[in-house]
Amino acid sequence: MKDFTGKVLFITGGASGAGLGQAKVFSEAGCRVCIADIRQDHLDEAKAYFKEKKVKVHTIKLDITDRKAYAAAADEVEKVFGSPPDMLFNTAGVNAFGPAEASTFEDFDWVIGVDLFGVINGIVTFLPRMIKAGKGGYICAVASMGGFMPSTGCTPYSVAKAGVIMLMECYYQALKPYGIGVTCVCPGGIKSNIDQSALTRPKALANTGYNTDEKTMAFEHNIYQTVGIEPVELAKMLKKAIEDEQFLVIPSPDPEGMLRMTLERLVNYTTPEGMKRQEGMMAKRMEEMRQRMPQGPNPYAGAAEAGWGAARKDLTWVKPTRMAGAPPPKKEK
Ligand code: NAI
Repeated sequence: MKDFTGKVLFITGGASGAGLGQAKVFSEAGCRVCIADIRQDHLDEAKAYFKEKKVKVHTIKLDITDRKAYAAAADEVEKVFGSPPDMLFNTAGVNAFGPAEASTFEDFDWVIGVDLFGVINGIVTFLPRMIKAGKGGYICAVASMGGFMPSTGCTPYSVAKAGVIMLMECYYQALKPYGIGVTCVCPGGIKSNIDQSALTRPKALANTGYNTDEKTMAFEHNIYQTVGIEPVELAKMLKKAIEDEQFLVIPSPDPEGMLRMTLERLVNYTTPEGMKRQEGMMAKRMEEMRQRMPQGPNPYAGAAEAGWGAARKDLTWVKPTRMAGAPPPKKEK
């Protein structure tokens, strides 16, 4: 797709971070944008931003895990824009940090519910309508680099994002005959408000195994203000990928190297010698990550002291963990 003029674009999570960046870039490219988000305050801020820029956007308050509400949102889009969307961006997402072994059913239900089923709900709701409209179109999802590598500090998230990558690849193949393109974005980090995810966690799924005290939340807030790509820059990369009909977007200096490492890891796991090689590779990778750390103070330093990625305090049977990127513990003398 090269011409975005007049195209109806539905963005989930469009009122903040990566989704808001998409709304800015694609409205400027000529799209008629509909922003859906669970947070009314985010929607209000986004509305005010676009009003000031004299850009018309339609907003819908929507929880993407609510299938009935999703169908009603799809009806609203057809009423307001006169057709189903030409483009669907599944961008909304949440995250929660803590050791895999401390994860509760509710941690899995919430994160996978939003991050994987939210995308499924978007596609199953809109796709038949898009196909019936017969105009082709485009579907995107924001997954994560975390979908390629096991993050033991946010396992439900890694599982959900790995699922999204596979889901999108299946649709990439399946939707070719309909003229509907598919792109999956896998960022490493985005400057965003994802540290506020807990604010939208449903009360029924409140039972978490992770440490969510104020100190750790403040630490996490600092990470997402410091590390990662600017949302507008990421959205520009997505626009170029859509123009080129490129399936994967990996904002890394060496996407090929990252993917080769993923494949090598899996191959290594298939033999005893490979398992040893993998241990060595992981140590090397940690060192490389440390070398690539931005100049100046390491934003991950102090993770352990802040309790970031730790278990809920009463789960005393969980061993202390160290979040990726945090400096290694001092050697005992
Ligand atoms: P953000 O928090 O700034 O934006 C996400 C938006 O989604 C928020 O406005 C939030 O209210 C909304 N949302 C959350 N749950 C929802 C639900 N159930 N229904 C509807 N809307 C909901 O965060 P960010 O970082 O911009 O997140 C966008 C996507 O990028 C997510 O899928 C996230 O997993 C992904 N991502 C983020 C990274 C980061 O470092 N921030 C790295 C890699 C991927």
